[in-house]
Amino acid sequence: MSEVTVVDHPLIQHKLTLMRQEGRSTAGFRRLLEEIALLLGYEVTHDLPLTNETIQTPLAEMQAPVLDGKKVVLVSILRAGNGLMEGILQLIPSARVGHIGLFRDPETLQAVEYYFKMPDNMQSRDAIVVDPMLATGHSAAAAISRLKETNPRSIKFVCLLAAPEGVAHLQEKHPDVPIFTAAIDSHLNDHGYIVPGLGDAGDRMYGTK
Ligand code: URA
Repeated sequence: MSEVTVVDHPLIQHKLTLMRQEGRSTAGFRRLLEEIALLLGYEVTHDLPLTNETIQTPLAEMQAPVLDGKKVVLVSILRAGNGLMEGILQLIPSARVGHIGLFRDPETLQAVEYYFKMPDNMQSRDAIVVDPMLATGHSAAAAISRLKETNPRSIKFVCLLAAPEGVAHLQEKHPDVPIFTAAIDSHLNDHGYIVPGLGDAGDRMYGTK
């Protein structure tokens, strides 16, 4: 069973409460998401492998730690993943970015891919998959299955809010992928929204509703 980390840092919890409030402006929502993303990014990268490199300081030569391997790849599940991805990019500006676009076929209810683009050399990269809302978990699970075809060195999943149903689904489909979230809410409603949640993250982030 994959590990679930609820990042309960007080700054994250305070900012998340501000984001949930229905009167929050689009600009405010987006800014808070980026701020939380940066803090979640700090937590999710805590165990990135390091290697030593010989460097010269003004005083001496030393062996100093640097991140090992190819650049990390942030994988955004379109479209709401982009908000979380932008925040983490502030923390890891040299990260590479991949995108996965999926929609649910209304008849078969299966996730259908409409976009998939990853950097090269995925085998040498650690992948951090981002999507703010882990609701049913179906798109996250489908996106990770597709990503696994590129064979990244490791995969982690980061969201802002999760429903217990989404966590259970992702754990069942990908027990090897650790999940990081700022909160696990009560349940999903009949329309697949997280309750109490914050509404449609994409619409609130982009002002499309
Ligand atoms: N996607 C959202 O944006 N919000 C939810 O509550 C569930 C899925």
